[in-house]
Amino acid sequence: MPYLIIIAAIDKNNGIGYQNDLLFYLPNDLKYFKELTTNHTVLMGRKTYESLPKGALPNRRNIVLSSNKELDCPGAEVYSSLEEALENCKKDEKVYVMGGYSVYKKAIKLANELRLTYIHSEAKNVDVYFPKIDYSQWEKVDCKDHTKDDKHSCDYSFATYLKVKN
Ligand SMILES: NC(=O)c1ccc[n+]([C@@H]2O[C@H](COP(=O)([O-])OP(=O)(O)OC[C@H]3O[C@@H](n4cnc5c(N)ncnc54)[C@H](OP(=O)(O)O)[C@@H]3O)[C@@H](O)[C@H]2O)c1
Repeated sequence: MPYLIIIAAIDKNNGIGYQNDLLFYLPNDLKYFKELTTNHTVLMGRKTYESLPKGALPNRRNIVLSSNKELDCPGAEVYSSLEEALENCKKDEKVYVMGGYSVYKKAIKLANELRLTYIHSEAKNVDVYFPKIDYSQWEKVDCKDHTKDDKHSCDYSFATYLKVKN
């Protein structure tokens, strides 16, 4: 199995998206995402791929899930199930699962690590949420708080969790 990391930015109500876009523009979160994922693999659903402003993310292996095997996603490999995608990853390959809802929901059961950005605000409009997290399965190992500034309209925190070993 590859090493699976869930990465998401969630608002106070667990919202993650609206009309196929992110809820908040937080440059530091985009930077954090880039730093973590560069030179690794990112795995996403078809709609998240379509939401990327410049298509596939550079300097990363891009994997897209879709039931449409003919789907053409420039710069990305397409698989028709999470299982098939993971079978095509190397042991210990770092795979960052970057949404959306159904991909998070399936992958969180297999994930080793969570990288959650908690946005300390509520978006006005939300049509996609992060799945419910069973925190008894996760140990928080790091959390860094950031206060709002001229470039960030609200406070936010970067939290890291590791799966509790049963
Ligand atoms: N805040 C964040 O961190 C964050 C991160 C990512 C995305 N988002 C937001 O979330 C929204 C998009 O998420 P979404 O939940 O609507 O869509 P999504 O998960 O990105 O895409 C859904 C599509 O992915 C394919 N898919 C998903 N699971 C699959 C599986 N197990 N096997 C095969 N195909 C699978 C299907 O494509 P087909 O229909 O082609 O079969 C499905 O319709 C956007 O608003 C985006 O901005 C937010």
